[in-house]
This record gives sequence, C-alpha cells and structure tokens, in this order.
Amino acid sequence: MIKVNSPYISKEEIEAVKEVLESGYLAHGPLVDEFEKEFSKYLGVKHALTISNGTISLYTALKALNIGVGDEVIVPDFSFIATASTVVLTGAKPVFVDINLDTYTISHEDLERKISPRTKAIIPVHLYGHPADMDPIIKTAKEHDVYVIEDCAQSHGAEYKGVKTGTLGIAGAFSFYATKNLTMGEGGAVTTNDDKIANFVKFFRNHGQLRRYYHIQIGWNFRITNIQGALGLIQLRKLDKMNSRRREIAKLYDEGLSSIGCLKTPVQKKWAKHVYHQYTIWVNRSILRNKLSKYLQDAGIQTGIHYPRPIHMQPALKKYGENVYCPNSVKASNHVLSLPMHPGLRDEEVNEVIVRVKEFFRDSGMIC
Ligand SMILES: Cc1ncc(COP(=O)(O)O)c(C=O)c1O
Repeated sequence: MIKVNSPYISKEEIEAVKEVLESGYLAHGPLVDEFEKEFSKYLGVKHALTISNGTISLYTALKALNIGVGDEVIVPDFSFIATASTVVLTGAKPVFVDINLDTYTISHEDLERKISPRTKAIIPVHLYGHPADMDPIIKTAKEHDVYVIEDCAQSHGAEYKGVKTGTLGIAGAFSFYATKNLTMGEGGAVTTNDDKIANFVKFFRNHGQLRRYYHIQIGWNFRITNIQGALGLIQLRKLDKMNSRRREIAKLYDEGLSSIGCLKTPVQKKWAKHVYHQYTIWVNRSILRNKLSKYLQDAGIQTGIHYPRPIHMQPALKKYGENVYCPNSVKASNHVLSLPMHPGLRDEEVNEVIVRVKEFFRDSGMIC
C-alpha cells in the first residue's frame, strides 16, 4: 500500500528517544527547552512555547487574548474542526468565512463581508502547507482592531513573502501530530513576539505556577515530555530537507498530471513557499473524485479527502452553522482529493500514482 501520509522517522529519532528513556528524565525537561529555543530561531519569532497539541495551542492563544463569551472569531469554513471548535470552547462564536478555490485558504472578500463590531480575532489557516494571503487580512484586522492568530498546523516552514508562517500574526498555533511536516507523535506550540502572551502560555500550560507549588492563576497541565522534545529536535533539524523532498514530489506530480483535463493540480502563488503538507488535487466532477479514490484504493494507493464536510455542516457545530453561505467551501468538500505525500515516498511510487491516475481518466469513459 502506498500511504497517503506517513511520519518520516529514521535511526536518529529512535536513538534520541532511547537516550531519553535511558536517562530517566521523562517529563518536561531540557530537551523541550532546547526545542523551543531552536524552533523560535528557525521561525524568526521571539517565543515558541510547546503545548500538548495543535488544538490546545489554538485554545491557549485565544485564552491569552481574553477571547470568550460575547465575542466572535472569524474562521475559514474549510479546515480541520479544531480551527472552529476551540473558539466554541472559549465561549465565543465562530463565524464561518468562505475560501478561495485556488489556494483553499480564507477569502478576504468574504471576510470583509462578515467582520462585525463583535469580531475579536481572525484565524487564517495555511491549509495544506500553502500560506493564506496575509497582507490584506492583517490590513483589515488593523482597521477593525482585531487580532490575527495563524493556524499553522499544516505549514511548518512555509513562507509568505519570504517570512515564515507563525510569525505574521499576534500568535501562531502549531501541531506536531504524527503526520505533520514536523512530528512529535502528538504535540503543539504557540508562537508569538508578544511577551505578555508568552507569559500567559507558560503559566496556563503549567497550573499557573510561578515557582514550585506557588500558583498565581488557575491553569492546566498542557506540558509535553522530554521524549517529545528529543523527537521534535531531530525532526526540526531535518525539517528543511523533508520539506524540500515534499516540494520535489509535488513537482513530479505537477509535471505528470498537468496534461489531464479533468483535474487541477495545486497552485503555488508567487508570494508563497508551499510546503505541501498535502498534495491535493481538484477533480472536475464529484462523482469522478469518488471513483478515482476507489480506483486508487483498489490499486494499493491510499488517498484522503481533506475535508469531506465544511465545518459549518458538522453536527457538533449545527448551532453556529445555520444560514451560513460558503459555496466554495461546499464545492471543495466535493471535489478535492489528496494524493500520497510524505518525505519517505520514492520516485517510483510517485510515478505509480501518476500512471494510475492517468489510466483511470483514460479508461473511465466519463466526460468531465
Ligand atoms: C488546520 C488544523 N488545525 C488544527 C489542528 C489540530 O491539531 P492537533 O491534532 O495537534 O490537535 C489540525 C490537526 O490536524 C489541523 O490540521
């Protein structure tokens, strides 16, 4: 089976984790601190603070900005549910904004329509590893005096006009889940240049503790372990190499698939460095998308649909989803298909996927 996503783990990670296990120093420790230092340097941001996962990093960033009951937060309708569910968890209301169909990121035009005096923050998502168009978003945010929190769960190392994602808003929220471009198995980080936010995160993730058994605010245990720190450090040191491989694979796909009229390959805007967390194609007809997925599955090739349902149509968010108009998000959920993409993919496997996709369209006999 050619997997759609897979963590890229080599001997170095195994050795690093083994060393931690043998050291007996398992909880939050020096390797976590080292990771935070290196990650902030890599991004070019003052603080990178680790936290349990990407969901908690979004939640913590929102809490740091005192967002809660009575507030509205703008989110793209096409993302993983955590982008919106974390807003609900603070007591605030998610307001769903449509996406652009070229990059699948938040539509500035629709954002301008939906921003209101109650809006407290905007959460652009750098979906699939392609940055959202941040300049107009930041301009609108300034005009309305609202915060921008970047959802960077899929964009480690991606750049907007030469600047790394996670450094452009008041805060960035990263995930280090198993299949992300940089993994710790599970994990996350809040990035910020703002000392007040950084201090909040430090207390919030560790029971509001100022010094041992002295607590100045109510907090949680959202710490990560030294084992995760060790894993993250090795992954961080090879992140650029892993992203380069993703970009190489994307180029092979682009070249191999561009002649097929029934689909669109992903775009990379002039101002963007795409890190291809996913390689997601658009299939002109929804029925063909589903058939192609089944065809590839039968040929031993896994695919994914990111995402099969716009967030506003998720049962869990029904209360906030009524009368939402996001037609592009609905369309995307019916037409997108993610092909295998991870640094461990071999050229022969990429070629096999290309051959099978071409074969499908040649033989399907369907007009698209
Ligand atoms: C866009 C986006 N936001 C947030 C998250 C949440 O991250 P985690 O799974 O680490 O909680 C994910 C994870 O898949 C994601 O893709």
